[in-house]
Amino acid sequence: MRYRLLAGAISLAFLLAAAAGLVPGHGASPEGPLASGHSSLHVQEKLMNWDIIFLQARIYLGRLPAIMPGSEADTPERVALGKKLYFDRCISINKNKSCHDCHLLTQGRAGADVTPTSQGATGISGKRNAPTVINAGFQFTQFWDGRAHDLMEQAKGPILNPIEMALRTPEEVIGCLRKEKGYFEAFRRAFPGDSDPVSFDNLARAIAAFERTLVAPGRFDRLLDGQKNALSSQEKRGLTKFIQYHCVECHGGVTVGGQLYKIIGLRRPYSGTDDLGRYEITQKVEDRFVFKVPMLRNVTRTAPYFNAGQVFTLEEAVTLMAWHQLDRRLTAGDITDLIAFLRTLEGNPPRVEEPH
Ligand code: HEC
Ligand code: HEC
Repeated sequence: MRYRLLAGAISLAFLLAAAAGLVPGHGASPEGPLASGHSSLHVQEKLMNWDIIFLQARIYLGRLPAIMPGSEADTPERVALGKKLYFDRCISINKNKSCHDCHLLTQGRAGADVTPTSQGATGISGKRNAPTVINAGFQFTQFWDGRAHDLMEQAKGPILNPIEMALRTPEEVIGCLRKEKGYFEAFRRAFPGDSDPVSFDNLARAIAAFERTLVAPGRFDRLLDGQKNALSSQEKRGLTKFIQYHCVECHGGVTVGGQLYKIIGLRRPYSGTDDLGRYEITQKVEDRFVFKVPMLRNVTRTAPYFNAGQVFTLEEAVTLMAWHQLDRRLTAGDITDLIAFLRTLEGNPPRVEEPH
């Protein structure tokens, strides 16, 4: 929303930047994306214009808000219930899978798992990589294909998904909770005044309330707050390239992505996936290989990458991005600078301990 509202301001700033010679054209590159290339831009000189980059970063990206949208009605009781449910394996077919098993949050983990695709409750793996739940509620939709509108709708998905938690009906989920000690009381406290508090909708509401506490700003936000020394000169160079090379056109907004859909292979065809992405939801030809542009907050901590976790290192992910989305061949220096910037997006939410 905020991102769209800023569209006008963005084009204005872009014009300004273009006038200042800060926005280079797309240069065609003769060889493959993983080949090393020559220095493609005299970024050093243009770094003089740091004030303009700083302004652009504020306009295109922006500081992570302290509170996630939708959290107005979240009470401590609701968050506590959501957290208990998030860690509870009871809501899976063989009582062997919780949300937390695929989206780890304890011991400094970054809200995802470490495998290309995660194994569900029946031992079968899905076809997609698990994104992080940290900061997820700031995105404009949920899932790689955007099929869930928000966190509440999303939370119902995996519980009933035959290859994730694999329960068959909402009644089965609720039936399991009714048998567990303490849940009735916890639901009653979380949803006071509700005549039937233990419901599938309330379960999803509570999990979403817990996820909305997972707000995790990083050093980048300190920079935007005005602490100009929050980033090293290499990190600033990385941010400059992120903007000047047009990464920001897709990975925009406060989550540095997660605000629009785009095709993978925009400028040069990408043959690394047979997942049709949004096409599976809309059945529109133009949506083939279109995905929600992933957010890059904490991306340095959520390898492997891309929709099926088919890319193992950030170096390769960044290289492939420049090639397939922007027709640009990066130098070794570009790659390390861009990754240095991405590291400033690391952040931890308030500490999460496994409930007893
Ligand atoms: C078996 C592993 C597994 C389990 C269990 C699981 N997830 Fe996920 N989660 C995934 C995968 C894989 C995706 C991506 C699926 C897709 O986009 O089609 C995902 C996507 C998400 C997203 C969307 C993030 C984004 O950026 O789009 C959220 C939020 C999320 N899961 C929360 C949960 C919650 C809450 C639970 C428990 C109710 C849960 N997950 C259970 C693997 C799992
Ligand atoms: C035209 C839009 C577009 C542009 C421009 C773009 N990206 Fe992406 N980016 C995407 C999409 C779409 C994906 C998901 C690809 C997939 O999974 O198949 C993605 C994925 C990524 C990932 C992997 C994230 C993850 O969690 O798996 C990284 C890292 C990334 N981009 C960085 C960059 C950088 C750095 C640039 C600039 C050099 C850039 N992107 C330019 C659209 C774009």
